[in-house]
Amino acid sequence: MSNHSLPWQSVWLTGASQGIGLALAEALAQQGVTVCASARNEEALQALARRSRLWSGKVVAYPLDITDSSAVAETLVQIEVEQGLPQLVIFNAGSHHPTPATRFQSDEVRQLLELNVMGTCHCLEAILPRYIQHNTGHIAVVASLAGYRGLPSAAGYGASKAALNNLLEALAIDLYHTDIRLQIINPGFVRTPLTDRNAFPMPFLMEPEQAAAAIIHGLQSGRAEIRFPRRFALLMGLLRLLPAGLYRYLIARATGYDRAV
Ligand SMILES: NC(=O)c1ccc[n+]([C@@H]2O[C@H](COP(=O)([O-])OP(=O)(O)OC[C@H]3O[C@@H](n4cnc5c(N)ncnc54)[C@H](OP(=O)(O)O)[C@@H]3O)[C@@H](O)[C@H]2O)c1
Repeated sequence: MSNHSLPWQSVWLTGASQGIGLALAEALAQQGVTVCASARNEEALQALARRSRLWSGKVVAYPLDITDSSAVAETLVQIEVEQGLPQLVIFNAGSHHPTPATRFQSDEVRQLLELNVMGTCHCLEAILPRYIQHNTGHIAVVASLAGYRGLPSAAGYGASKAALNNLLEALAIDLYHTDIRLQIINPGFVRTPLTDRNAFPMPFLMEPEQAAAAIIHGLQSGRAEIRFPRRFALLMGLLRLLPAGLYRYLIARATGYDRAV
């Protein structure tokens, strides 16, 4: 028997092999939840599943490349057969690489959109008909505060995360009359293999365990948007209200992009 304190028996989580997703899988399984963990790195998922035997919940590995829509559909069928329909899905898998204007490559932007946007859409396409059929379910998608407005060297990443914010908002309105809950998660900087590549200073940097705790708290709050850390999210929220010219000036100055290098 698991000592259940969280409202979900089972969760499907993508991007569970490292970073925020790994911390989230650990925290959920340690609190009694069955985590159906997806990512491409099967070895990492199996290692996590083995470690979870000591916890009150468990992790079951469902290796998956979310850019393959058929594989996504097949994985959800397998999860449903083996674990039942998850009450909560967290579509967290995503990536980032810089796409500065000085070496702008459409292929690099396409890769980010294929993973961050289309990969997430494949997952949504699989889960939505089931939740709509049962008029129940909880969907959370990890975007980023970087989706609020343009940031230097992040045209591709920012566009993908802005797209996810808009996409989830539209779906939430479509499903407003149902008992299906949709939440968008917009984190600030979190220390993970993804941000370990960043050479610039990252304000309000959080540990993945803190991010996982903020996400679990936010998921239970029912808020349409889960954003953290609070002060950075507030700052980014205020910057979103500025006129375009003033915003460009302030960000260029703050990041040194107002000077030729
Ligand atoms: N770290 C931050 O500061 C930050 C801030 C805001 C938002 N975010 C967002 O939070 C999410 C997680 O970021 P993170 O920092 O934890 O990144 P990360 O350490 O690079 O982890 C990304 C996860 O996504 C998985 N993934 C990548 N490509 C995949 C694919 N094609 N199919 C299935 N899974 C795939 C990776 O596993 P495999 O390689 O094994 O497939 C990994 O588990 C991302 O959506 C990111 O944009 C991060």
